[in-house]
Amino acid sequence: MKDRIVLAYSGGLDTSVAIGWIADATGAEVIAVAVDVGQGGESLETVRQRALGCGAVEAYVADARDEFANEYCVPTLKANGLYQGHYPLVSAISRPVIVKHLVKAAREFGATTVAHGCTGKGNDQVRFEVGIQTLGPDLKCIAPVRDLALTRDKAIAYAEEKQLPIVTTKKNPYSIDQNVWGRAVETGYLEDIWNAPTKDIYDYTASPEFPPAPDEVTITFEQGVPTALDGVALSPLQVIQELNRRAGAQGVGRIDVVEDRLVGIKSREIYEAPGAMALITAHKHLEDVTIEREHARFKATVGQRWSELVYDGQWFSPLKRALDGFIEDSQQYVSGDIRMTLHGGQAIVNGRRSDTSLYDFSLATYDTGDTFDQSSAKGFIDIWGMASKVASGRDQRVAGE
Ligand code: ARG
Repeated sequence: MKDRIVLAYSGGLDTSVAIGWIADATGAEVIAVAVDVGQGGESLETVRQRALGCGAVEAYVADARDEFANEYCVPTLKANGLYQGHYPLVSAISRPVIVKHLVKAAREFGATTVAHGCTGKGNDQVRFEVGIQTLGPDLKCIAPVRDLALTRDKAIAYAEEKQLPIVTTKKNPYSIDQNVWGRAVETGYLEDIWNAPTKDIYDYTASPEFPPAPDEVTITFEQGVPTALDGVALSPLQVIQELNRRAGAQGVGRIDVVEDRLVGIKSREIYEAPGAMALITAHKHLEDVTIEREHARFKATVGQRWSELVYDGQWFSPLKRALDGFIEDSQQYVSGDIRMTLHGGQAIVNGRRSDTSLYDFSLATYDTGDTFDQSSAKGFIDIWGMASKVASGRDQRVAGE
């Protein structure tokens, strides 16, 4: 019996060519695996047919949109996950869910090896392979672009020669990865980091320069999970999709950064994540009202570490799992409504209400009804400043010697 290899299949040029390329190079049978994480575009059935048309012996397709929203996007939201303070981990969180399906398909079809279309320079190869090693320690990994010299030029030539049922275009200079949490665009003229992005690279967002009238939205959270928009109950997937539409129309969530890849390279990325950025903003503001100060400060550190682990391909690691436990626990009281205005590229919070709020009007007010005993502040300040005061006395003594 022939060896079998499952391939993470997108339906695009590179992975379509990879089917035959891998078969030619290894003599194995290739099973294409396509996972819908809300990237839009073609139907799974169209993608499936193309995989078979390109020579796959089987094609496994999975609608993982709700799974991705509930088990990957929602945890990222609970962590306020932003790598380097900017990037909402769009591609980083899609790899582990794709890995789950790759390993599942490998088991179902008796494959020994998993293949993916990543290059040898990026983070995604690491995320795929670390994930596969963790979930299927017996499985081998192969990356035709990296390991079997499948360059873009060769891919185009191969597709034309074999008349594969795909459109080969030499034009699109960008490398794009997208899902319901956002969209990532790199390469081409963006590699000159002084070049501003041109309009044509955006797809999830309209230009914020000439926005439509302001759009006010109320987002309801229950224990950190978004459950309704404007009072209408929705699933997390639906909330993200709807906010992609509404915040996207206002140009919210455009991000242009130079980021630190795990492999040590700095790279320019353009992201658009209208729904994710609106949600993270709203969620953080609700935490400000519902999480106790020290808990909130520490959670910010945890969220940052969590984001680094997820970026670095450690989704299935023990430390990431342990931090999940902390983050999950922190969400116990993160319930309530956030009102925000989406307009001109910004998502600005202008109202919050929660039955589990820690905001105490009678403590905060400067008007009548104040219950805060201001006389206790004086002694508190004396003690709070004591250590610095003693140290400063020492500095002056030493300087005077
Ligand atoms: N740099 C981002 C990351 O490592 C996005 C990579 C996505 N790939 C792409 N072709 N743009 O998560």
